[in-house]
Amino acid sequence: MSFPPVKRLLSLLPVSRPVSRAQLSREMGCDEQTITDHVRQLQALGVNIEENPDGGLVLQEAIELLDTPSILSAMDTRMRGVLKNIKILETLDSTSSALQRMPEQDRHGAAVFAEHQSSGRGRRGRRWVSPFARNIYLSLGWQFQNQLAELGCLPLVVALAVSRALARAGLEGHRVKWPNDLLLNGRKLSGCLVDLQSDNRGPCQAVIGVGINVRMPESELTGEIDQAWTDLASHLPGLSRNRLAGLLLEALFHDLAVFAEHGFEPFRPYWRQMDGLFGRQVSALIKNELTVGTAAGIDENGALLLDTGNKTLRLHSGEVSLHKTSL
Ligand code: BTN
Repeated sequence: MSFPPVKRLLSLLPVSRPVSRAQLSREMGCDEQTITDHVRQLQALGVNIEENPDGGLVLQEAIELLDTPSILSAMDTRMRGVLKNIKILETLDSTSSALQRMPEQDRHGAAVFAEHQSSGRGRRGRRWVSPFARNIYLSLGWQFQNQLAELGCLPLVVALAVSRALARAGLEGHRVKWPNDLLLNGRKLSGCLVDLQSDNRGPCQAVIGVGINVRMPESELTGEIDQAWTDLASHLPGLSRNRLAGLLLEALFHDLAVFAEHGFEPFRPYWRQMDGLFGRQVSALIKNELTVGTAAGIDENGALLLDTGNKTLRLHSGEVSLHKTSL
């Protein structure tokens, strides 16, 4: 699919009064069959385009596509300078895979956004459901001069950056769930996938993937998500995805620079403030055994402290779920 014509077609499709293929083909300077082909491509990606019995075309809801000038205008000038390269692709397998395919020397400060991912990757081998033009799918490349051992808290730092971007967008009441989910009313709003590579001496190359549910209606696709989820539109109707994308880049640039220089210590007060697990009963799979305990914050290395009653365990990786009685 070639993106510029499809983008143009989307901008010409009205939300209320249907428009004819003949008019669209005049405005786009192509034949009607090409319009039909573009419409089919968009419908296959899940865009709701209705066709009237008389052939008129109408969008069922307004669509805001991502575009570079709008994303940049949500960022302050200094932060724009950190962005070395920005790509917005209509559809690809995964923004993180795309970034990993770029030469290593081009990745630092490079941001890849997509409108749709056919193989969006979640943590622990899960699929990240990625419908067209509804959410944020971003991968950012970052090079740290630090050694790998100093970067264990990076996933938590990324979650806090997402949390700050959401707060700047006007959201209230969201919480972080160790290690790097964002929850709203106990439902997942955003997830991060951090991939770090190094030869142990530094520098380290990070590919930071962030998915935020912005406007995600129930569908066949969402039926396969195996955890409770929510989206921003239910809480912040009218939020611009472009603005959110700009705020997200800005928060990531700021926090990654602070983390590289000062480590996790400056982030601990904000983690405590946003910790959605603290004091809650949680279950964790540890060495294939389900362990239940009370979440008691994190240690200086970002490990989750789990108070089982007779001892405090430290979880360095893995996933926990809120125990049913604690929901
Ligand atoms: C999770 O399981 O919580 C992590 C989800 C991470 C999804 C994002 S979307 C952008 C980037 N590209 C991917 O394929 N995955 C991440």
